[in-house]
Amino acid sequence: MSFGVSPEAYVRYMGRYAQPLAAVFATFAGVGEDEKVLDVGCGPGALTAYLLSVGADVAAIDPSAPFIDAIRERFPDVDACRGTAEELPYDTAAFDAALAQLVVHFMTDPIVGVRQMARVTRRGGVTAACVWDGPTGALAPFWDAVHVIDPDVEDEALLSGASMGHLAELFEAAGVRDVHEASIAVDVVHPTFEEWWEPYTYGVGPAGDYVQRLDDGARARLESVASERLGSGPFTVTARAWAARGTV
Ligand SMILES: C[S@@+](CC[C@H](N)C(=O)[O-])C[C@H]1O[C@@H](n2cnc3c(N)ncnc32)[C@H](O)[C@@H]1O
Repeated sequence: MSFGVSPEAYVRYMGRYAQPLAAVFATFAGVGEDEKVLDVGCGPGALTAYLLSVGADVAAIDPSAPFIDAIRERFPDVDACRGTAEELPYDTAAFDAALAQLVVHFMTDPIVGVRQMARVTRRGGVTAACVWDGPTGALAPFWDAVHVIDPDVEDEALLSGASMGHLAELFEAAGVRDVHEASIAVDVVHPTFEEWWEPYTYGVGPAGDYVQRLDDGARARLESVASERLGSGPFTVTARAWAARGTV
């Protein structure tokens, strides 16, 4: 998966949705001041930044070296380390809460990953995650345009947690209790089509991988189809995600 990219590329591609989502997701999870919170799959720090802004004591982990370097540079006081959800290098019950924003669908084994998140959360604490809904998530306008050209291509809608009820099932299978799932959403205004499109050419995540595999002609055709569908801008993308939380 293509997350070995520069933090700047990620922020322009996904940070524009992840930053507003962080406030909605952290509120859904119910974490706040003075709580010790683990940000699993932290990326360059959209959720970390929000958690710090509300006074949480944050630790962050991600397998991507450039993202962890970015976290260390942006937030020198945050305990940041490279690693995966499936093998969290923390003591049992070390945190008040463990959160994963837009990560469960990229875990090699989501049940093991969520089980590890629950293990490092103290009794009575919160484990929570969110994943874009396939048909209405942040990347849906991109994949909708792809499907016009290539109807059989597998998009991100089939990934773990990207449909109603799936995140809750994963949480229950991982042993999390009192699981509650909800739909959360953010509205992001794109001033121009170019501002929306360009980050898809940076090679970030499955959509970026897809664009990089296209030859010049196919890439221009996809850009033109997307432009016809979205217009020249400004336009708003309403990005919906499934969020689940439960206790340990
Ligand atoms: C879409 S990004 C989300 C980043 C950040 N949470 C945000 O909201 O902007 C997915 C992140 O999951 C990380 N990731 C991929 N596989 C992972 C795993 N098995 N465990 C933890 N993180 C993982 C990637 O490196 C990437 O930073």
